[in-house]
Amino acid sequence: MLIFIKNLKGKNVIKNVMITTKNNIYLAPLDNVNCASFRLLCKECGAGLVSTPMINTKSFIRERENFYWYKNEQPLLAQFIGSEPDEFKECVQELDNCDVIDLNAGCPSDDQIKAGNGAALLKDLPLMKRIIKTMVKYSPVPVSVKIRKGWEEDDCIKIGLLIEAAGAEFITLHPRTKFEGYGTPADWSAVKKLKKSVKIPVIASGDLLTPENVKECFDKTECDAVMIGRAAINNPFIFRDSEDYLKTNELVKHSKIERINLIKRFIELYHKYEKRYDLAELRNHCAWLVKEFKGARKLRDNIGRCKTEEEILKII
Ligand SMILES: Cc1cc2nc3c(=O)[nH]c(=O)nc-3n(C[C@H](O)[C@H](O)[C@H](O)COP(=O)(O)O)c2cc1C
Repeated sequence: MLIFIKNLKGKNVIKNVMITTKNNIYLAPLDNVNCASFRLLCKECGAGLVSTPMINTKSFIRERENFYWYKNEQPLLAQFIGSEPDEFKECVQELDNCDVIDLNAGCPSDDQIKAGNGAALLKDLPLMKRIIKTMVKYSPVPVSVKIRKGWEEDDCIKIGLLIEAAGAEFITLHPRTKFEGYGTPADWSAVKKLKKSVKIPVIASGDLLTPENVKECFDKTECDAVMIGRAAINNPFIFRDSEDYLKTNELVKHSKIERINLIKRFIELYHKYEKRYDLAELRNHCAWLVKEFKGARKLRDNIGRCKTEEEILKII
């Protein structure tokens, strides 16, 4: 269980903000995936903390109403991506119902790099430092930073020490360089090195595809927590399964009925919590959630053609 404490020194008060998570297995930020209903589904499946997708600071300032989360999602990490300290100042001051505000310093996509965002900050450490300091100064909750291990080479210790000195409360490391894709194995030895080099908690992300991976990662890196990405998209059960596996060394198998019920629950949450009904988004999630079904590939194609959610439920 991680505990983050931030001392808020106001005019007359010193308030401690303390956040605890019920386990150390978290949902990673996932763009185009982590809608509120999916975050809630992962929370129900045992995630100790859930994350928003990356939120562009400019979009947030322009269209605040398009970004939402709920009290019952907490503990929640809201992740921002941008490169203007003043925009971060504006964004972080506005936030309710969230426990951590995270800086994305790892996204490798061309558009983000062109804008100087995400992994581009790994090449401009003075700017990264200014952004973190601004966030720490104005944020009502703890600030964290999610990084890759470096731009072209492994610089994670230098970057980690800078993040710590700038006042962030923890670091999430996806241990690949900006140029390495999922074909290159995540370098958990970098997580171990970073953990030894900084005093703040270190969270590992990368290649956590099974409960066994989660255990191996904790054992090998001594990280404080893990963030699961791709595996959760198809299998939100991975959170509780990993927690159980850490305790018992036994793997849980899920029946088809359980997985169908999970899809039904997702649809229920989708109706209750999303402000816009987007059939394409709903279909995507249902198609991802049938990955473990027999004949999954064909089923996914068929789900993609469904015109209503009733049709989806009929064919799964
Ligand atoms: C579809 C998708 C969307 C992602 N979006 C984000 C994002 O918004 N912010 C971020 O920091 N990382 C993002 N990532 C990276 C993940 O958070 C994670 O660090 C990475 O996938 C490695 O973890 P995994 O092997 O468990 O997937 C994304 C990854 C995927 C596959």
